[in-house]
Amino acid sequence: MSSYGQIKSLAGTVIRAILSQPVTNFEVARVGEERLLGEVIRIEKGEADIQVYEDIDGVHVGEPVEFTGELLGIDLGPGLLGNVFDGIGRPLAFAEPGETPPVFLKRGFYAKSLEPRSKWVFKPNRSVSEEVFPGDIIGTVREGLGFDHAVMIPPGMPSSRIRSIIPDGSMVSVEKAVCELESGDVIFLSQRWQVRTPRPVREKLPFTEPFITGQRILDTMFPVALGGAAVVPGGFGTGKTVTQQSLAKWCNAEIVVYIGCGERGNEMTEVLEEFPRIIDPHTGRPLMERMVLIANTSNMPVAAREASIYLGMTIAEYFRDMGLNVALMADSTSRWAEALREISGRLGEMPGEDGYPAYLGSRLAQYYERAGRALLNGKLRRTGSITIFNTVSPGGGDFSEPVTQSSLRLSGAFWALDKRLAESRHFPSINWKKSYSLYENGLRPVFLQNLGPQWQKGVAFLRELLDRESELLSLVQIVGRDALSEQDKWDLEMGEIVRISFLQQNAFDPQDAFCPLEKQMLFAKTLMDLHILVSKEIENGVLHYQVQRLGLLRGMLSIRKVPEKEFLTESSKWVEKVGRSLIDMEAFS
Ligand SMILES: Nc1ncnc2c1ncn2[C@@H]1O[C@H](COP(=O)(O)OP(=O)(O)O)[C@@H](O)[C@H]1O
Ligand SMILES: [Mg+2]
Repeated sequence: MSSYGQIKSLAGTVIRAILSQPVTNFEVARVGEERLLGEVIRIEKGEADIQVYEDIDGVHVGEPVEFTGELLGIDLGPGLLGNVFDGIGRPLAFAEPGETPPVFLKRGFYAKSLEPRSKWVFKPNRSVSEEVFPGDIIGTVREGLGFDHAVMIPPGMPSSRIRSIIPDGSMVSVEKAVCELESGDVIFLSQRWQVRTPRPVREKLPFTEPFITGQRILDTMFPVALGGAAVVPGGFGTGKTVTQQSLAKWCNAEIVVYIGCGERGNEMTEVLEEFPRIIDPHTGRPLMERMVLIANTSNMPVAAREASIYLGMTIAEYFRDMGLNVALMADSTSRWAEALREISGRLGEMPGEDGYPAYLGSRLAQYYERAGRALLNGKLRRTGSITIFNTVSPGGGDFSEPVTQSSLRLSGAFWALDKRLAESRHFPSINWKKSYSLYENGLRPVFLQNLGPQWQKGVAFLRELLDRESELLSLVQIVGRDALSEQDKWDLEMGEIVRISFLQQNAFDPQDAFCPLEKQMLFAKTLMDLHILVSKEIENGVLHYQVQRLGLLRGMLSIRKVPEKEFLTESSKWVEKVGRSLIDMEAFS
């Protein structure tokens, strides 16, 4: 039910309205003659503060405000995939396939998130008089060339029997009923959901399945579990966008939802231009076919960003509910937090650390808590997951600031991007000393089962060696390289080989952009075998300068190119050859 009010005062994009009837928090309001979209953010003694999500130039005191009685919501259904929405769910339809969508929407413009004219071919998988429960899939529609979009009984509906269901091959639009239940409820191709309310699941599951990225440093050293969350902090130019794009391309999630909260308009334009160009390496088709993009357009007040992360989460939950694994990425949490700070400032709230409101952490939690791997509602036992990758852009690379810290408390992995590494062209510029993952213990049994004990050994070797290298580098600063023992000199060289051949991974090199898990394990094993072999020969009297002549880094870089299938054979052959050369040297030394 709508109720009405009148604008009393304006402060930026926050307006205060005098109410004639009670309203609720987060109720959607249409402000002024132009009916601009806003949300109630505070109610006080017959008045309400409304955050308007559009430019409010020309709106005056005394104009009407309509309170819609609804909370901010989105229509979920076929047509989401491949689409771009603004922070409040309005589609920025593509002009032509492959073309950049318009970044500006008309003020007060209200578009349904799903195109009502599109027709979809329905394929039922339930029949009349069967009992169905909320969460059950009653049929599918085909999207693009290969995605079967599940039509589900919406959460909250009572279980009932099917009275009628439209036949196989029917062409339907999202507004058309496809199924009627004996309870009288009607199922449509689409369902509406309020973005600030989590979609329910039956049970959250532990973090025991790996989220595979194909990035060696991530999977091997700082793995994330399906349903987990990783924070990616880094300054400008450290590789946040490239990292997220690599994940989107290569990860083992079926659906990717990307929320762009860019600082500058052109950053957002870049994202809008780049994602549609990326080809999905798994299918050879545009990656956008399994992506949903949310772009906070440059003509919208920053406040729309605040809502956009809940919008993205809701879309992710919808696909999770189909039984899929979803990767949810937001770039950047810092820009989101700044929006929160701005709104809080307008409301005259007491600022906390760095000016952010005291509820920064709890608002962020309302987003992070909705991720996870879950047992879904419905009759059949199905699971789905949402894994979060959020970037943070702390000013001056200071990770102790509130947004980074709040994000850290809510996530289990931290991939610290490093300006110095990026400057020396070490990519991905993930600092292996500052990064960590809390998912390792939970994932150990799966890794052990799939890859054997070798995995664990390889990881431990890489860690120890990198630690040893950094110890030695500190020592060298004091005593100089010549004072090191032959073994220490070799450890230093080995550290460099590990960093350059294993940790570095060029996102733009087709042979190296993706490294399968099995190959990562064999790669680490090869490095370990090499280290043991050379160390033994050094003990037998071979000198480090002789080892240097073998060009082991170069060797390792060409081994890296070998495909997974031949990797074991080729790498073993190479290590054997190194062994023979060393024995020859030993004979001469
Ligand atoms: N994994 C990578 N492989 C190769 N180059 C990379 C990689 N990551 C980042 N880069 C380089 O760094 C540049 C900046 O990365 P970008 O992701 O745009 O930074 P940010 O989003 O943090 O500002 C890229 O244009 C690219 O040249
Ligand atoms: Mg970027």
